[in-house]
Amino acid sequence: MSNKNDFTSYLRLGVNIDHVATIRNARGGNHPDPLRAAHMAAKAGADGITAHLREDRRHMTDGDIERLRGEIDLPLNLEMAATDEMLEIALKHSPNAACIVPEKREERTTEGGLDAAGGHTHLAPIVGAMRDQGIRVSLFIEADRKQLDAAVLLGAPVVEIHTGAYCDAVGPAREAELVRIQEAAAYGAELGLEVHAGHGLGFDTVGAIAEIPQLAELNIGHFLIGEAIFGGLDSSIKRMRSLMDKARAEVSGERTA
Ligand code: PXP
Repeated sequence: MSNKNDFTSYLRLGVNIDHVATIRNARGGNHPDPLRAAHMAAKAGADGITAHLREDRRHMTDGDIERLRGEIDLPLNLEMAATDEMLEIALKHSPNAACIVPEKREERTTEGGLDAAGGHTHLAPIVGAMRDQGIRVSLFIEADRKQLDAAVLLGAPVVEIHTGAYCDAVGPAREAELVRIQEAAAYGAELGLEVHAGHGLGFDTVGAIAEIPQLAELNIGHFLIGEAIFGGLDSSIKRMRSLMDKARAEVSGERTA
């Protein structure tokens, strides 16, 4: 089992609890409560809580963000679109981290990464304002050198690489996506960026991603909440945590052998 204090091999798990709110909102009312899920996630081994406040508030609400910020001990990572409204909310709550994601109202989930290269002029003041307030800013991008270079130019200390295409692909196509992510993680680390990854990960796909030595954090949500229906949230998070630890132990074993 890897050690949380060993930053060279420990891979943090950010648990995204958006879909606890999705289920709550299906009926209105307060059940199931994302805050309760956040407390359970902390006990099960999460290193952080991630929540996406969407423009249409389809899952997390402003009240959820306020409660999460005030009542959980784990670091809060706020996923947000690069809009004036979201910037104001981020500056008001000052989460530990903020991940800027592209957002389209009609999409079911975040499809594709942010165009950090093409959006420099729009993104620069948003990244700057959050950095000035001590929020650790990350950009959710595709595994693409151009986007990694753009993150450096924007002064973002962290990037999160989109793993959706890797998870959706099968056979050789998945292998090719994995290589792209491996190369991007290595290049990002060379540039001095902290590199995270996430989207679509499940028990079957997490291992190969967790083995990428440059990655410092994975953010995982939908699969964990879905799996919790069958075995409970505690069990789904613990299993994910253990698959990540196992993958990491294998790579650090290879490196020290
Ligand atoms: N990382 C980012 C930036 C995301 O937007 C999402 C989805 O909200 C995730 C990770 C988690 O993806 P999933 O819910 O598919 O695990």
